[in-house]
Amino acid sequence: MDANLIQEPEQRSFGDMLRFFRGQTINRRKGKPLSQEQLGILLTDQLGLIISRNKVNNWETNKISPHPQRDRELMVAVVEILKKHNGIKSLDDANQLFEAGNYQALTDQEIDQIDPGWKQPVAQQNAVGPASFQQTVTYPYSQASPVDLRRSFSSYIADKLKGFVGREFIFDAISSFIKGKPSGYLIIRGDPGIGKTALLAKLIDDHGYVHHFNIALQNIRSARIFLENVCLQLIARYNLPHSSLPQNATENSSFLSQCLNEAASGRGNHPVVIAIDALDEADHTGLPADVNSLYLPPSLPDGVYIIVTVRRVVDLHLQVSNPQTLDLEADSDGNLRDIKTYIEKYVVRKQMQDRLSAWAVTREQFTDTLVKKSQGNFMYLYYALPAIEGGKFTDGGLDELPEGLLAYYQRHWRQMREGNEREFDKMYEPIDCMLGVAQEPITLEHISNWTKLEKSQVKHAIDKWYEFLLDTRQDEQHLYRIYHASFQDYLKNEVDLTRYHKMIADYYLRLANMK
Ligand SMILES: Nc1ncnc2c1ncn2[C@@H]1O[C@H](COP(=O)(O)OP(=O)(O)OP(=O)(O)O)[C@@H](O)[C@H]1O
Ligand SMILES: [Mg+2]
Repeated sequence: MDANLIQEPEQRSFGDMLRFFRGQTINRRKGKPLSQEQLGILLTDQLGLIISRNKVNNWETNKISPHPQRDRELMVAVVEILKKHNGIKSLDDANQLFEAGNYQALTDQEIDQIDPGWKQPVAQQNAVGPASFQQTVTYPYSQASPVDLRRSFSSYIADKLKGFVGREFIFDAISSFIKGKPSGYLIIRGDPGIGKTALLAKLIDDHGYVHHFNIALQNIRSARIFLENVCLQLIARYNLPHSSLPQNATENSSFLSQCLNEAASGRGNHPVVIAIDALDEADHTGLPADVNSLYLPPSLPDGVYIIVTVRRVVDLHLQVSNPQTLDLEADSDGNLRDIKTYIEKYVVRKQMQDRLSAWAVTREQFTDTLVKKSQGNFMYLYYALPAIEGGKFTDGGLDELPEGLLAYYQRHWRQMREGNEREFDKMYEPIDCMLGVAQEPITLEHISNWTKLEKSQVKHAIDKWYEFLLDTRQDEQHLYRIYHASFQDYLKNEVDLTRYHKMIADYYLRLANMK
């Protein structure tokens, strides 16, 4: 990567700051910053004006600058895109960019367009400006979280917020719940991929709630990690009189309850809200049978609300007084409206327009069909829209698209197998399954060691599964993991994964000369 991209410039011209903030962005698929060309394409898509790589380069090298009045819309779009890709993280960052070019600060209306959450008190906004060069941290008190967790959550939240649309009907229900009850648990239930984590990320981003994500794919699922994280955030956020966690803080719920009581008594008129994602992914093993998952207290002090999201599972291990449940139904009007909005926003892209012309379908026909095919599932759209745009479904017409998320996975799996059965059995399946059983992001080398396949073969197979993977970088190395738990679930149903767990164990036993 160009080293200049990660240095905050001392002389803050508009071009320098733009280059700096672009350097802080994360391109979801590639795991690196947006290029000048990509920024130009995104602006072109958003504004319908052609913004070339050259133009972005000319801004960044201070050859030209956008016009203060005529290009106002363009400037707001730049901030929007940099924010969406996590380069600009706060109103303060945006203002720094504008100040560097002597542009008038963002108006209330423009802030609303970019992110209404930016109008909150400064204390709730991101305190980490560009000078810190840190990974994103959404709120000052989040810095109290253990550092690894903070990094994981920051990028997790940023990823889930990309292209976020709608959910007003759920946000309304949440605020009625908080206004209407003295305290309590709200359980938001929905199918895999319907958008529970994304909605929680948005809630946290808008309100700065204390939060925790259980992420089985990253082995973040223990009660210990949860208690440590949430207690530290509560202490920092509500200025509680504890300089460190007591030794037994993560062994039962008593310290958490104490923190909640203390936070509640010093909260003034504001509710204390904790947002917890994927309670169903939390690990209950080793906990006494009658204890709640994550040691969550059965009752809460007045003014304290806990919002949890869950899939529909048989036993949540959650016995609490008067919980309220909100079902996020795939075929509800609110959900289908949001799904439609998401498609409508995507379909205006230039390449999508070309695809639609080739299929001879109108935007409306395409949108209606995709709403049906997705069965109200956002994860489906996350895969299908870029795949359509990239030309994956060019053979048939719209009918070629599978019905629902499971069918989408099945189609890909079947096509891979039919394409070359020998290679599938030898490479594609084992490599995919290794990713399915790994508890954390892994390198090509890990997979090569575990499967005894060449690194080039591993890379080739990874390219075939790329659509379902998350590719990040650490110390110049690519790390891969399965993007979404629903694909891991699909694998579990398709293949007996114990064989792959055993292959990994065997490798380490051999290494330790124990076998
Ligand atoms: N409202 C939304 N706007 C835009 N994208 C969304 C929205 N909701 C979800 N998505 C995208 O759809 C994908 C699936 O969403 P998410 O991970 O939140 O599902 P989930 O319900 O948490 O699934 P699981 O039960 O498996 O955890 C994600 O990539 C997410 O970013
Ligand atoms: Mg989720």
